[in-house]
Amino acid sequence: MEKSESGSRCCVVTGAAGFVGSHLCERLLALGYIVVGVDNFFSGRRENLLSFAAHPRFFFHERSVTESRLLHELYGAHGPFETVFHLAAIVSVPYSMDHPEETLEVNYGATVRLLNEAEKLGVRSFVFAGSAAEYGTQDRMPLRETDAGSWTRWLSPYGEAKYRATTAVASTRSPLRGVSLRCFNIYGPRQDPSSPYSGVISRFVDMAVAGRPLTIFGDGFQTRDFVFVDDVVEAYCRAGISEKADDSGSGGIYNVGSGRPTSILDLARLICRLTRRPESITFCSERPGDIRHSRASIEAIARGLGWRPRIALEEGLTKTIQWMHGEAQSLGAKDFPDGDLSEKK
Ligand SMILES: NC(=O)c1ccc[n+]([C@@H]2O[C@H](COP(=O)([O-])OP(=O)(O)OC[C@H]3O[C@@H](n4cnc5c(N)ncnc54)[C@H](O)[C@@H]3O)[C@@H](O)[C@H]2O)c1
Repeated sequence: MEKSESGSRCCVVTGAAGFVGSHLCERLLALGYIVVGVDNFFSGRRENLLSFAAHPRFFFHERSVTESRLLHELYGAHGPFETVFHLAAIVSVPYSMDHPEETLEVNYGATVRLLNEAEKLGVRSFVFAGSAAEYGTQDRMPLRETDAGSWTRWLSPYGEAKYRATTAVASTRSPLRGVSLRCFNIYGPRQDPSSPYSGVISRFVDMAVAGRPLTIFGDGFQTRDFVFVDDVVEAYCRAGISEKADDSGSGGIYNVGSGRPTSILDLARLICRLTRRPESITFCSERPGDIRHSRASIEAIARGLGWRPRIALEEGLTKTIQWMHGEAQSLGAKDFPDGDLSEKK
């Protein structure tokens, strides 16, 4: 195994084989970091690691974030970490409804333990994947960071566990800097469209590329705040790496979104146009528990981290569609080596 020589340029990314985590690993490697990835493939995919698995500064451990002393063991193998990016989670809201205790343990309990370990190991920053689900049901838009609290009516154990974890992360004391990024609807290449509960963009693009009609739950006038994965990765990097002092007053909690509402019907029409398909849209009944509107206020992150979204919806959708076309033609992950990649030859 290889240890970080300086000890100052090494990051841990949990959920490295996931949609967002894999993009974050790629960016950190491009920035010159040693990246220690952790994932147990609960929902992540080996093929997400393909483009950087063999990188000499990437190390992968097939482990669960629920394992005790995980960070201590990684420290022993790779040396000190500058930042822990904690993205691993049970991400399916319906799964969380069926498995509330497991969701609380993975999404909240494990986060608190990792946070305590990070504190003891002298990690500089701990960046957590919070979620818009922490806001539960709300009428007031746009949603500000202070709009979630103990009074919130969460719609799922997923939302509640994320809220509790965010609160723990934001309560850390100096020298450890805890930041939670409450991301809204993230989309982009590598998002898995295979589950009926996948992000709406990945499902729509998948249906459109396959020439199937796009299915909308409800009337299509519900709105969401979509943010492209590269913009989200930029927010993670600014939160975990930048030296900029936070003067936003948001206590280390930031929304990450476009700040713009897009209706599901407009989204479906746009995807039909960009994939050059006839507008073929079907409607079925609203899903219980779905919120009507969701939109982020992004003032705090603009002030605190100097972040703003750069990729417009049409541009991001075009990139996602191009990727999905490539996926449809590819042979999958048959060349990916199995097992642990923590040792480099
Ligand atoms: N995609 C979105 O729109 C969105 C929005 C808000 C928040 N988030 C949060 O961002 C993070 C990344 O989400 P994503 O969309 O990339 O989902 P994803 O499912 O692609 O990634 C989550 C990763 O965590 C891994 N994982 C789950 N349980 C684990 C465990 N016990 N130990 C180790 N690894 C484990 C999964 O295998 C997967 O690779 C999650 O925390 C999610 O809650 C995502």
